[in-house]
Amino acid sequence: MTEGLPMAVASQGLPPRVRIHEVGARDGLQNEKAVVPTEVKAEFIHRLAGAGLTTIEATSFVHPKWVPQLADAEQLFPMLDDLRGSGAPVALPVLVPNARGLDRALALGARDIAVFASATESFAKANLNRTVDESLAMFAPVVARAREDKMRVRGYLSMCFGDPWEGPVPVHQVVRVAKALMDLGCDELSLGDTIGVATPGHVQTLLAELNEEGVPTNAIGVHFHDTYGQALANTFAALQHGVTTVDASAGGLGGCPYAKSATGNLATEDLVWMLNGLGVETGVDLGLLTATSVWLAERLGRPSPSRTVRALSHKE
Ligand code: HMG
Ligand code: MG
Repeated sequence: MTEGLPMAVASQGLPPRVRIHEVGARDGLQNEKAVVPTEVKAEFIHRLAGAGLTTIEATSFVHPKWVPQLADAEQLFPMLDDLRGSGAPVALPVLVPNARGLDRALALGARDIAVFASATESFAKANLNRTVDESLAMFAPVVARAREDKMRVRGYLSMCFGDPWEGPVPVHQVVRVAKALMDLGCDELSLGDTIGVATPGHVQTLLAELNEEGVPTNAIGVHFHDTYGQALANTFAALQHGVTTVDASAGGLGGCPYAKSATGNLATEDLVWMLNGLGVETGVDLGLLTATSVWLAERLGRPSPSRTVRALSHKE
């Protein structure tokens, strides 16, 4: 019996509202073994919007050989046009690594893009075939052109808390690349715990260090993968620090094809359950969202790993 639950009991010092940056259709589906049909992706994104999500990362304009799961970006993106034109428009960010990717995104009228850097050399090489500095040089003209076009630009930063090849990643190393992304002109930074090894003290230390170095909290989002079950605790730590943008994927879908130890992101349902309990507004209807993840899980042929989805969809 979950009617009226969780009971909303506020915790001091938290933001009144959080913007969820939904990444299931991109971070989630890029890691599926099976290629999901384009129509299913389009319906998934429409359902996410129907559940109240207002920032839904749609796809990536990367090399189709690198991420075949998202090779249908040209077919998918126009199927979402109605979402961008409606009375309450939904932002549909897309990943763009280079000038070629930006051309493809612009040709379809994308307004929100994300470049994606790495705090470590190993992942920069594995994910972008570049050193960290070479990838920043690749992003520079992309961000400049996007800004000229008045697009919104997010800068992802991966491996902020640990790297599968290099182990612990020093905070100063993360801060250097974070600042470089902001200096390129990114509007927002998303701190990626790509392999899910962060713990709350580490999160707060990195956030404090970024503030110290001039990156304001209101420009920072957090992107936790849930490999070790720490994503919600890490999110709570970030909220206590004042972060109001949290990435999550419906049903806990996801991972990263170029970082083997990455599992799914923080599940959006688990996040919304916690925020509902804290009385923090998200605008998301948890029932509709859960139904969406159950619907998608049926199409993927396996149950959602989200505890909240499982609990709420349990038939008595
Ligand atoms: P490269 O092989 O070095 O590419 O890959 P290149 O620049 O040498 O170009 C080679 C060929 O690719 C050329 O074609 C280009 O035109 C073409 P050719 O002249 O030989 O016929 N090409 C493209 N085609 C279509 N779209 C493009 C594109 N770019 C070049 N955009 C590249 C470099 C960056 C392209 C490649 O490494 C790549 O696509 N990487 C993407 C990897 C990826 O998407 N990873 C997952 C997202 S990151 C993530 O999940 C982490 C995150 O969630 C945060 C976290 O959790 O930490 C964001
Ligand atoms: Mg990710």
